[in-house]
Amino acid sequence: MQNSIINMKKIVVGIGVLLCMLLWFSSCGTRMSESEQPVGTDLLKEEKELVEEGDNYIVVGISQVGSESDWRIACTESLRNTFTQENGYYLIFEDAQQKQENQLKALRDFILQEVDYIVLDPIVETGWDAVLQEARDAGIPVILMDRQVKVSDESLYTAWVGSDFRGQGVLAGSWLSDYLEEQGRGSERINIVTLQGTLDSTAQLGRTSGFASVMEQHDNWVMLERQDADFTQTKGQEVMEEFLKTYPDIDVVVSENDNMTFGAIEAIEAAGKTCGPDGDIIILSFDAGRAALQAMEEGEINADFECNPNLGPLVSEIIQKLEQGEETEKLQYIKETYFDTTMDLESLIEVRTY
Ligand code: AHR
Repeated sequence: MQNSIINMKKIVVGIGVLLCMLLWFSSCGTRMSESEQPVGTDLLKEEKELVEEGDNYIVVGISQVGSESDWRIACTESLRNTFTQENGYYLIFEDAQQKQENQLKALRDFILQEVDYIVLDPIVETGWDAVLQEARDAGIPVILMDRQVKVSDESLYTAWVGSDFRGQGVLAGSWLSDYLEEQGRGSERINIVTLQGTLDSTAQLGRTSGFASVMEQHDNWVMLERQDADFTQTKGQEVMEEFLKTYPDIDVVVSENDNMTFGAIEAIEAAGKTCGPDGDIIILSFDAGRAALQAMEEGEINADFECNPNLGPLVSEIIQKLEQGEETEKLQYIKETYFDTTMDLESLIEVRTY
């Protein structure tokens, strides 16, 4: 079933034609027995119904980044719950396992399969011009979600929906600034390390540059090091272990997603240090999934800046508009907030859906 319904339709039509020819040839020679006759007829009927049924679906090929984080898993769930046959979709879902080459291949397969729409969550921002041009030449609209692309011609994709990653980074920096003031540490030297997400991904670029823009206003903030930990817990832990060996006086960890944060917390505790509001190291995280809010409730994370993974319905809304021949907004930002330990975390966790 990994081949598109379109290919399936072609195969079914082919089989149908072959069966017709077979029936015609056999009827030219000997007459079919009565018991044989309905079998062929029924088969053809069933196949015809299948083709007609396939015609009723909107075929969507989705190229997802991977399954590197809780956020990603929640995002995939949102897509799978939205692009169902009950909702009129036929979904072809490809997990790229964090490799751009897999995404390029998936997109080219979607084009060959003549899907109706391509939905792409690009792992990194660059390297998409050629394949997007191929999709355009094939007349297939491409909708981007979550991360963005840098292309020479913005009309190579139809629309994008996702987070304001730079805004999240700015919010994290401003939150830290206010917090340090409240703690009476506003003019103290503050040593910071950053666990970065996959380099050249929009989530990394935005969060890093947003936080850096606030850093520029604080001469006393020192970025000791930034390092790529690929948005995974394992790498977050490894990189944090290295940071702790190299820098004995870390005041703040900026971790560009929750899973790297979980890894960092493990490393900090294994090194005999503590984190969170009552600890040695201030932890700022991004995503704000339920597990992170629980860690915050337990006093391990200071603040978490939300990244909403419920993108399925928003992508579907865009497709439905295009189906109706309506205009769609080129860029659409999803609504997000932040959380810290001053809030009623217990009630927030209770209603958290991801
Ligand atoms: O692109 C969104 C980011 O990618 C999320 O912050 C992270 O958890 C995911 O892996």
